Amino acid sequence: MSKEKIAIAYSGGLDTSVMIKWLKDRYDADIVAVTGNLGQQKEIENLEEKAMATGATSFSFLDLRKVFVEEYIQPALKAGALYEDVYPLATALGRPLLAKALVDVALENDCTMLAHGCTGKGNDQVRFEVTFASLAPHLKVLAPLREWEFTSREAEIAYARKHDIPVSATRKNPYSIDENIWGISIECGVLEDPMIPPPEDAYQITTSPEKAPDTAGVVDIEFVQGVPVALDGKKMDGLDIIMALNKLGAAHGVGRLDMVENRVVGIKSREIYEAPAAVILHFAHRELERLTLEKTVFQYKRNVGQDYANLIYNGTWFSPMREALDGFVEATQKNVTGLVRVKLFKGSVSLLGRTSPWSLYNEELATYTEADTFNHKAAEGFIHLYGLGLKTYSEVQAKNKV
Ligand code: ARG
Repeated sequence: MSKEKIAIAYSGGLDTSVMIKWLKDRYDADIVAVTGNLGQQKEIENLEEKAMATGATSFSFLDLRKVFVEEYIQPALKAGALYEDVYPLATALGRPLLAKALVDVALENDCTMLAHGCTGKGNDQVRFEVTFASLAPHLKVLAPLREWEFTSREAEIAYARKHDIPVSATRKNPYSIDENIWGISIECGVLEDPMIPPPEDAYQITTSPEKAPDTAGVVDIEFVQGVPVALDGKKMDGLDIIMALNKLGAAHGVGRLDMVENRVVGIKSREIYEAPAAVILHFAHRELERLTLEKTVFQYKRNVGQDYANLIYNGTWFSPMREALDGFVEATQKNVTGLVRVKLFKGSVSLLGRTSPWSLYNEELATYTEADTFNHKAAEGFIHLYGLGLKTYSEVQAKNKV
């Protein structure tokens, strides 16, 4: 009888390397290792070799960058999804896509089990497993980190040595880092004290604002229906735009975020993020919405953006709620087309200008010059009726006062 197969979300790091051997022995199973490329720069060399040397039966490397940009990042950008007003959700958006890719490979290869390398106190286990449950509820889910015997990194390294598992860096990085094209999440070490400012070495890509150039960077970003399509007049695809803005923003120290956030599992955690492109694009997109969205839509959409961010953070990407919110967001983006000029300077992003064929800004109505076409006289009647309810209320209060 052939062995059962386990599909594992493999990153090439210590945990998932140790996991291959540990699961193989424990379940006497074949291991199908899967790595998704979401634009991470580290630990992607020689992955196949490493996975096979560690004991995997097969290895797949999937380039998910384009799908990530078009089907995950862009909808989140259009929605204005910033978790608790700050976090652009890089890690959180990547998880459902990685989980889906793992499920696809598992089904193609007749796997009966899925495994991930998330810990028992984070959000990522929730995101993986909720996605598994919605896409392939019949597959058994294994989370070795929640149950195995290793209580420290050193214990895992000792196990790896004993079993000839190649691990790249045995030197301990003081931080836990998760990286993709939409941003980098940095945790642990001294960052666990929310009163301590992040040491410079915590940052992976951004220049410190103090050391950033004395000359500002200026960039024109064009959007069509809420999607960025060109930089400085040059049409580019979504992935190239994000890569270019990550580079430019990082050079100007833009995109550093430091927040205490509310995790799904009930704890607060202190997180450092670097997300230059995400910070710049969310800023520019929102400025364009200020110009082009009708007042009630603009004001209501803020709530939708928060709900959308919560849904991504909480791991319910594959849900009817997301589809419903996408419907609303999509309808709002019809006229979010135009150009935003932003300035990047020593860690900050600011606005230089915005223009759109769908602009609702009407200079003749707004001006205080001779060109004014606003009907000042109409204001009197309007205010009379608009304030009538409060006037009545106030009169009744006064009459009944003892
Ligand atoms: N707090 C962030 C989130 O929940 C970042 C998590 C980082 N994940 C990691 N495996 N290091 O999305």
